[in-house]
Amino acid sequence: MAIQRTFVMIKPDGVRRGLIGEIIGRFEKRGMKIIQMKMDRLDRARAEKLYAEHKGKPFFEELVSYVTSGPVVAMIVESDEAVSVVRRMIGSTDPKEASPGTIRADLALSKSENVIHASDSAEKVQYESSVFFS
Ligand code: CMP
Repeated sequence: MAIQRTFVMIKPDGVRRGLIGEIIGRFEKRGMKIIQMKMDRLDRARAEKLYAEHKGKPFFEELVSYVTSGPVVAMIVESDEAVSVVRRMIGSTDPKEASPGTIRADLALSKSENVIHASDSAEKVQYESSVFFS
């Protein structure tokens, strides 16, 4: 068993659509622990830092403008193998391709408004958490 922490962010569409409880409930029902959580609003500089790896891609401007469009909920979630387990629970970026039962397949509207983000590696957990938590 390898207890691990991961970074998760409920995106502005998830908050706007009243999905915070539904999403946190999925993690809690899975036996995961919420270690830290806060509602926050990203400005452009912090959004660019969070998504630095996508700078220069065709969707970058749309992504930054969307993620700064309203409050988000950032959290640190802990469980056995949290990084890979949470990634499987959220599903593919495009909800049309996400497996049934995943958060994005069940709740997301489009590739850009896809409700939730989670780190894809232990290194990214450190980096992305630092945008929200000291
Ligand atoms: P996320 O897991 O937060 O990581 C990067 C985000 O960029 C991704 O979810 C999508 O919301 C967004 N994204 C990735 N590819 C595209 C695309 N082709 N068009 C619009 N947004 C995208």
